[in-house]
Amino acid sequence: MSTQDIALVGLGVMGQNLVRNMERNGYRVSVFNRTAAVTERFMNDHGQGTSIQAYYGLRDLVAALERPRKILLMVKAGAPVDAVATELGPLLEAGDILIDGGNSHFGDTGRRVEQWARLGIHFLGVGISGGEEGALRGPSIMPGGDRDAYRQVEPIFQAIAAKAGDGAPCVAYLGPAGAGHYTKMVHNGIEYAVIQLIAEVYDFLHQGLGLPCSSLAEVFASWNRGELASYLVEITADVLSRIDPETGSPLVEVILDQAEQKGTGRWTVQDALDLGVPIPTISAGVEARSLSALRDQRLEAARIFGGPALAAPGEAKRHLEASRRALRASVVCAYAQGMALLQAASHTYAFGLELAEAARIWRAGCIIRADLLEDVRAAYATQPVIHNLIFFPKFRAILQEAQADWRQVLETMIRLGLPAPALSASLAYFDAYRSARLPANVIQALRDYFGAHTYRRLDREGTFHTEWTEGEPL
Ligand code: 6PG
Repeated sequence: MSTQDIALVGLGVMGQNLVRNMERNGYRVSVFNRTAAVTERFMNDHGQGTSIQAYYGLRDLVAALERPRKILLMVKAGAPVDAVATELGPLLEAGDILIDGGNSHFGDTGRRVEQWARLGIHFLGVGISGGEEGALRGPSIMPGGDRDAYRQVEPIFQAIAAKAGDGAPCVAYLGPAGAGHYTKMVHNGIEYAVIQLIAEVYDFLHQGLGLPCSSLAEVFASWNRGELASYLVEITADVLSRIDPETGSPLVEVILDQAEQKGTGRWTVQDALDLGVPIPTISAGVEARSLSALRDQRLEAARIFGGPALAAPGEAKRHLEASRRALRASVVCAYAQGMALLQAASHTYAFGLELAEAARIWRAGCIIRADLLEDVRAAYATQPVIHNLIFFPKFRAILQEAQADWRQVLETMIRLGLPAPALSASLAYFDAYRSARLPANVIQALRDYFGAHTYRRLDREGTFHTEWTEGEPL
C-alpha cells in the first residue's frame, strides 16, 4: 500500500534527525540506508511506536510512497548523489521529486536539475543548515529547482523548519537550478568568515592580552546579550567555558590548532573570483584554515623567527569594548560580502533571488543566525538593489562608530605580532570601499608600460597609451 508521505535515503546523523523532525510533525516517513545495520539501529533507537517505516531495498521504499513520490537524499555530496539517484531513476515516474539535502556544489545541482527534467522527474537542490541539532529541532532550509515541484514539498519543509521570532518558518523558494545550494554555499562562506573573526578576537584577548578563557567566556556571553547576539557568539561562550576533565584546563586549550574544511568555503571563494566579487573576509577565513593546517612548518618557523613580546596580563580589560566593536564591524563586512556575492550570482546565473528572503530564512535555525539578519532582511526589503549593505543607514552607523576602535585593535595586534587576516581584511575592505581614490592608477600605468594595455584618464574620455620607453634602446 502506498501510504508514506516522503522517503529519506542516508541515515547519517543529519538524515536521522530530519526523519525524527518530520515524524514529530505528523509526516509518515520511510527510511533507507545502504548499510542495513544502520537502519536497524535507527529503528530500534527512534522508530518504535512511530509511523516511520524502514526499507531494505529501494524498490520497496519507492513502492510505499504516495504519488508524486518525494525522496530526500541525505548522502555525501558528489558522486554518491548521482549514484543513488541513478539507482532510483528506473523506479520513478514523471512528476516524482528527488530532493538533494546535502552540501552539493551548485553547478552539480544545476546539471542534475536539467538531466532529470529530461525524464520528467523534478530535482530539487536544497541547502539545509543547522547541524545535528537544527535538523532535529528546526533547520534553515534553502530550496532551489522547479518552483511547482517545490510547492509539493513546501508544507513538509515549512513544518520542520526553524521558526524565526515572528513565527515565520525559515524556508523559502529561492530560485531555479542551483539557487538553493548556491545560497547555502554563501551561507557557509559567511560561516567561515565569522568563525575566523571570533578566533582572532579570542587570540587577541587571550593569547595577546592574557585574559583567561573563563573570563573570555563571560565576555562572549555578555556580547551575545547585545548587538552581537548570534549563534556563533553564543556557542563561543560555551566552548570557552568548557573544562577538559583529564587535564583540568580549558578544553579549547588542548584542541589541536589545525582547522579542517570540507570545501564549501573554498567554493564560495572560487565562484566569487569567477564573478569578480570581492569577498576578502570570507577568503581570509578559508586561507587561515589552510595556513593553520601547515602546522609542522609553523612549528619550524616559530623556532626560527622571534617576534614581539606579548602584553602583560591585565591589559585585556582596556580593549574589551574596542574588540566588541571591531568584531561587530568586521562581521557586518562578512555579511555584506556574502550578500553582494548572492546579488551578483543571482544576476549572472538568473536565479531571481530575493535577498530579503535569503536573509529572512537565515534568521533562525542556521549556523550564521544572528540578530543582525533582521536588519539585513529589512534593508533588502526596502531597497532590493542596494549596492552594498554598508550603504544602509543601520550598517553605515555601525562601521562609522567602530572605525577608531577597529584600527586600534588591529594596531595592537600587529604590534603584538598576532595574525588577524579576517579582521584586517574587513577593515581593508571598508577602507577600500570608502576611498574616493585608490592606487589603481598605478596598476593601470604599469600594465600600460609593460604590456600596452592602455588606460583611461580622469580628465578626458577615451583610451590612451603612452610610449613609456620612447627613445630608449630596448
Ligand atoms: C551548516 C554547516 C554545515 C557544514 C559544516 C562543516 O550550515 O549546518 O554549514 O553544513 O558542513 O559547518 O563545514 P566545514 O567542515 O567545511 O567547516
